[in-house]
Amino acid sequence: MLNGEFGAGTQKAMELLVAIGDAYDAEKMIPISRAHAASSGQEGDLYFVELLADGGAKCRVPTSTNPVYDIKYFHRLFDVPKDEAEVARRVMEAYKRVGAILSWSCVPYLSENIPLYGEHVAFSESSATPYVNSVIGAYTNREAAQSALAAGIIGKTPKYGLHIKENRKGTTLIDVRASLRDEFDYTLLGYYVGKAVGYGIPVLTGIPRPPNTEELINFCAMSNTSGAISMFYFPGYTVEASKVKEAFQGDTPKEKITVTDKELRGVYEELQTTSEKADFVQLGCPHYTLKQIGKVAELLNGRKIREDSSFWVCTSATAKLLADKSGYTSTIEKAGGHVVVDTCIDEPCWVAYKQKVGMTDSPKGAYYRRFKEVRVARLQDCVEAAVNGKGR
Ligand code: F3S
Repeated sequence: MLNGEFGAGTQKAMELLVAIGDAYDAEKMIPISRAHAASSGQEGDLYFVELLADGGAKCRVPTSTNPVYDIKYFHRLFDVPKDEAEVARRVMEAYKRVGAILSWSCVPYLSENIPLYGEHVAFSESSATPYVNSVIGAYTNREAAQSALAAGIIGKTPKYGLHIKENRKGTTLIDVRASLRDEFDYTLLGYYVGKAVGYGIPVLTGIPRPPNTEELINFCAMSNTSGAISMFYFPGYTVEASKVKEAFQGDTPKEKITVTDKELRGVYEELQTTSEKADFVQLGCPHYTLKQIGKVAELLNGRKIREDSSFWVCTSATAKLLADKSGYTSTIEKAGGHVVVDTCIDEPCWVAYKQKVGMTDSPKGAYYRRFKEVRVARLQDCVEAAVNGKGR
């Protein structure tokens, strides 16, 4: 492959993996069973995926793709600049040419591309990397879109970092004394822990009850956005360590941090850039699950979103299909909202965000600063703001 006998695209992918392996002193390549490329409609992605596609590369293991752009909404919701739309279209076309799974979702581990315990994989994307390491117990490094795609093309990755058990040792003990009532509190906790730890493997004690899927997704996405958390432990609830001692592999933590409601309140305040009335509510960062879409439908049932407010719920095509069948989509649409697939807040084509005061339940969505100003709040408050302009 490295010598070009399997084509120029495969050679380029292998060159990248060899360079990464050299940089990290990897002893060898190991097979992977699947990959997830954090694709986006941006020029860097376009350059690399077209380079591989033009060179005839094809994925050797299932390789799913991140949100890019929903072609159906091109003229319906906003004017999208033609050059930005063209970049996104070419990215999507090139991923098709390399034989990727065109999931266009940042939560592929829920339905389109699910690793099993102990599998070695190459997953990029903020929630995906920590989720598959910590919740599922698969092995992945914190990949880039390009390294994950290269691994998907080759079917291998260099053996270093979190592919080695000893490197999966906890670094920081987090004593959680906050109340953690719902999934929004897990977003704040994730954001706080990511910022406090930076680069490391936190071990959290004091989690009051088994967290649900959405709470875990939120913790993963936010801790790997405000920091670089590729893996964490909730001993007793995540799979690899049932006891704190096991999570630290017998060592003592390098650092201990306590989190109370006061710290989470501080994060909440820090995330608000305005108290102005929102004119764009954006939910689904990470992509909403079917359960979350159902909750939105319940909150909007029989109500109307203000004429001067946009309301988007971003999700995967698979969740949308089930939301359609379950009647959630029609309830949201009757209220004046949209259930949007294949895209996300962080796509350059959605320039219309820039003039808006946004409101979201996602600190990650706020962090990208695609909006002019942004407010971050619980789902219920986002819905109230869209309907009657109130909401905290
Ligand atoms: Fe997903 Fe985009 Fe948010 S990739 S986590 S919806 S910024």
